[in-house]
Amino acid sequence: MRVYKIAAIPGDGIGTEVIAAGLEVLNVLADRDRGFRLEVEHFPWNSDYYLEHGHYIPAGGLARLKTFDAIFFGAVGAPNVPDHLSLWGLRLPICQGFDQYANVRPARVLPGITSPLTGGAGIDWVVIRENSEGEYSGSGGRVHQGLPEEVATETSVFTRNGVARIHRFAFELAQKRPRKHLTLVTKSNAQRHGMVLWDEIFYEVARDYPEVETQRILVDAMTTLMVLKPASLDVMVASNLHADILSDLAAALSGSLGIAPTANLNPERRFPSMFEPIHGSAFDIAGKGIANPIATFWTAAMMLEHIGEKEAGARLMKAVETVTAKKIHTPDLGGDATTEIVTSAVCDAI
Ligand code: IPM
Ligand code: MG
Repeated sequence: MRVYKIAAIPGDGIGTEVIAAGLEVLNVLADRDRGFRLEVEHFPWNSDYYLEHGHYIPAGGLARLKTFDAIFFGAVGAPNVPDHLSLWGLRLPICQGFDQYANVRPARVLPGITSPLTGGAGIDWVVIRENSEGEYSGSGGRVHQGLPEEVATETSVFTRNGVARIHRFAFELAQKRPRKHLTLVTKSNAQRHGMVLWDEIFYEVARDYPEVETQRILVDAMTTLMVLKPASLDVMVASNLHADILSDLAAALSGSLGIAPTANLNPERRFPSMFEPIHGSAFDIAGKGIANPIATFWTAAMMLEHIGEKEAGARLMKAVETVTAKKIHTPDLGGDATTEIVTSAVCDAI
């Protein structure tokens, strides 16, 4: 029996609802498979925990997490804690501390789901987001705080190593896909230092992947391309902030933010990787039982694939697609199914 240690961090808002649904589905999969088992430990680190203890991750917390095979993460962010505190208190210390530099965000229109685009059937993308530096480096500060002379700096940090490794990751992925097409997204006309470095290193790395077809598009033009010519795109690689924005667009164009998954990978496996739905804590619908669990199921499928249970991951995606095709949809997709109804339907399909 293959046993995997999973750290579950449901976090805030609908994070607790979708992670519970995800674990339910994972258990049914493991029972069905009989070849593997997940040993799940829950970590209560969320915004209530922060308000009570003064921190999200307690001393020694990352060292404990490091012993797991993967982290299954819900969402962080609550109305009573400033967002930059929750983000830098929980999610970023894990992403950066565990060098999860490759953020992988697939977008595809699942069966039974309608894209807001008429040409939406052409969407089958993977957004590769640099996840360890760039605009999220945390470098900067505030001077003369509260005074009229106040100054704030927010410095993007791009390192040769950081840029080269994300490009290489994107090329490796593009090469494995049928289209073998990779779009480099930057803003190197206006941002003339870091983004020019991105472009240069991209073409250096490209030499090792002659079979991958490439194109370079500026990030503003990329938004129009995604809307007007979705079928022309396959894999795209962009900086931390640019890809953050593009991946929300990709999610909306493929039907709903409620279906979009993400993997925060440490490809070298020196640290555990983290898997999360990209939708966030969504306090407006928290506690109503209507959160879409599909993003978390898709995320769970990516987690299974990463830990080595490819077949179970594929089975899960097939079950998800069976259910979306039957139009068992939560309200974000125009349906009236609850989280529970979608979850049981996926369990049945497995
Ligand atoms: C995402 C989210 C986060 C990010 C937020 C919650 C800070 O938007 O995962 O895309 O920007 O990284
Ligand atoms: Mg985002």
